[in-house]
Amino acid sequence: MQNKTLVISGKFNGSDILSIDQFTTADIRNVLRTAKKLKPLRESSKSSQILSGHIISLLFYEPSTRTFSSFTAAAQQLGAGIIPIHDIQSSSVAKGETLADTISVMESYSDAIVIRHPDEGSAQIAADIAHIPVINAGDGKGEHPTQALLDLLTIEEHAKRLTNLTGVMTGDLLNGRTTHSLIKALSLFEGNTLYLLSPKKLRLSEKHIATATSKKIKLIEIEKVEDLPHNADFWYWTRVQKERFEDVKEYEKLKHKFILTPALIRKYAGKKTIFMHPLPRVGEIDTLVDSDSRAVYLSSQMKNGVYIRMALLALVLGKIA
Ligand code: NCD
Repeated sequence: MQNKTLVISGKFNGSDILSIDQFTTADIRNVLRTAKKLKPLRESSKSSQILSGHIISLLFYEPSTRTFSSFTAAAQQLGAGIIPIHDIQSSSVAKGETLADTISVMESYSDAIVIRHPDEGSAQIAADIAHIPVINAGDGKGEHPTQALLDLLTIEEHAKRLTNLTGVMTGDLLNGRTTHSLIKALSLFEGNTLYLLSPKKLRLSEKHIATATSKKIKLIEIEKVEDLPHNADFWYWTRVQKERFEDVKEYEKLKHKFILTPALIRKYAGKKTIFMHPLPRVGEIDTLVDSDSRAVYLSSQMKNGVYIRMALLALVLGKIA
C-alpha cells in the first residue's frame, strides 16, 4: 500500500505485511489471538462470509506447496475468491511483463496481493506500486513473515509462552528466509536464547546477527551437534537452499551436514522439545522422526499456517480489528 507507515502498531487495516520489522509484540499477539479465534471455522469446515465479495490475488514466481495452498484455503474458508497464479510461465510474465505492470493488473482485479518472488525486496517493490495490501509470501533470501507467525503460534501452543525460550535453529541460516523472520520475531520477546547450528559457509549474516542482538535475544553460534543444548523448547530444522547456490557441488557438500535423527533426539532433546521444519525437507530429517509425538512439522505447524493466514487476511482487509 502506497504512502503507508511501515510499523503496524495496531493498525492492520490496509497494511502490507512485508517484514517482521513492522510488528510490535502486541501486533504479534493480536495475530495469534485472531488465528486462534478463527481456527474453529477450518476445524469444523464451517464456511464464513467474513471476506465475502473480496478477491485475493496469489502471485507466485517461485515454487510453493504449503504457502500457496494455505493462503488459498484461508481465503476460501472466509468466503473470499482467489486469482491463483502459480505457474507464472503461463502468465504474461513469460512474455516479459515487468513486476510493476503485473502488480498494477492484479490490483485492478483484487483487494489484496500475496506475492512470492526470488528477489529480496520484491514484496516491498510490489507494495510501493499497489494501493491495496501486499503480503510477502517469501522474497528470495529476505523474509517470510507469515511463516514466522505460524511458527510462533506453534511454539506458543506447546511451550505456553513466547519468552524465556531456548531454541535450536539448524541448516541454511544464510539463505533461509524462514529463519530470518523467525529470529526477528523471537528477538522481540524477553529472555529468548537461540543456538544457531550451521556449516560455516551458511552461517547467519552479520547484518542479521547485529539486528537481532540489538534486541532482546541471545544468539549462540555452534558448528557441531555436540554443542547442542539439552532440553531445548524447540528445534527448528531447515533445508539447505539449493536454488541460492551458484555452484551445485558446493550445495552437495553442505546439504546433509546436519540430519535430525532419533539418535540425536535421544541424546539432546527433552520430553517437551518439539521438532519443527518449515518444509519442504530434502533428506535433513530422518523419516523415522515423523512418528515421534514431539514432531510437529507434518501436523500442527502446517495447520497453523491456515489459521495465521486467515487472521492476516481478515486483519489487513479490516474485517476484524
Ligand atoms: C520455505 C520457503 O519457501 O521459504 N517453505 C515454506 O514456505 N514453508 C522453506 C524452504 O523453501 O526451504
